[in-house]
Amino acid sequence: MRLIGTGSAIPEKVVTNAMLSEFLDTSDEWIVPRTGIRSRHVITDENVEDLGARACLNALDMAGLKPEDIDYFICSNVVNEYITPSLSCVIAEKIGLTCPCIDINCACPGFLYAMDIAETHFLAGKVKNVLIVSAEEPTRMTDWADRSTCVLFGDGAGAAVFTEGDNLKGIRLHSQPDSSKIWQKRTLMPTPYITKQEEDVPLQMRGKEVFKFAVGASTTEVEALLKEIGMSKSDVSYYMVHQANLRIIDAIKKYLDEPDEKFPVNIQDHGNSSSASCAILLDECNRKGMFKPGDILVFSAFGAGLLSAAAVLEW
Ligand code: UT7
Repeated sequence: MRLIGTGSAIPEKVVTNAMLSEFLDTSDEWIVPRTGIRSRHVITDENVEDLGARACLNALDMAGLKPEDIDYFICSNVVNEYITPSLSCVIAEKIGLTCPCIDINCACPGFLYAMDIAETHFLAGKVKNVLIVSAEEPTRMTDWADRSTCVLFGDGAGAAVFTEGDNLKGIRLHSQPDSSKIWQKRTLMPTPYITKQEEDVPLQMRGKEVFKFAVGASTTEVEALLKEIGMSKSDVSYYMVHQANLRIIDAIKKYLDEPDEKFPVNIQDHGNSSSASCAILLDECNRKGMFKPGDILVFSAFGAGLLSAAAVLEW
């Protein structure tokens, strides 16, 4: 498949570290060196489906396609207000898609998992154009009295349109199932028969363990993928790494022994926007005109599951 359009949409409200320190025992001095985050966009009166719809329309516009040209629509999302219908259907209704719609919840690597599903449909000859959106509101998952999690996240949506082509050079998905590292639970509707205890628990994360998983999974998958497709690090133009923590990105950079210029970052303005992170970064870099034909983009993302993924896309 070949990428022909990108788009993104982010909430208006910008929350700086100084604003957080007004109600939390935290500071810019702690957050910046530990994470690289200076501010994040946070949903106020917006709906995540509207951000998703805007990102999709921007991507379709760049691709020069109409909603009826799309044969398959994949939405990557961890949480939103609808339990049913799927967020993909809610967004599809807003933008006038009539193709099959599916949601996936693959946490932060969701955009790459969606790319893998899209590629499978292209290889099966079932589609001509696929639209992917990652629409996320992780700020609705954390306890805003818990400084160890709420400072890390931001909301937003990123979208991409793919058509037939041979630009996805390789993709690897990896899982290490472990629900104790990052998790959140919510109660369902009661019934007359439920006897078990259920509870609403905000996002829980074992930060240091996730950090180690992220660096290990990213470097292992990137190196294995490049080897699998017969490329080397010198072929790589840019590493599009999930924006979870600048220190994670720095550790990956150091391990791969690659220069700063190959790692675009936007975490300072967005925080961790879950699966929207790679998609928003891609759109921002694309709209700045950073990529030229033939550039090799290596994507790497990791998160709850634990899941990780890497992909190589030729521009
Ligand atoms: O999308 C993938 C999902 N998540 C990630 O990728 C996150 C991966 N992990 C991380 O990014 C880092 O582990 C964190 C940024 C979450 C935390 O950094 P850390 O260096 O592992 O800090 P820590 O959790 O060991 O905390 C060190 C200290 C603690 O205080 P004590 O116990 O040493 O007195 C924390 O209570 O820093 C304290 N602390 C804070 N202080 C001020 C934790 N959060 C904050 C805060 N402001 N926001």
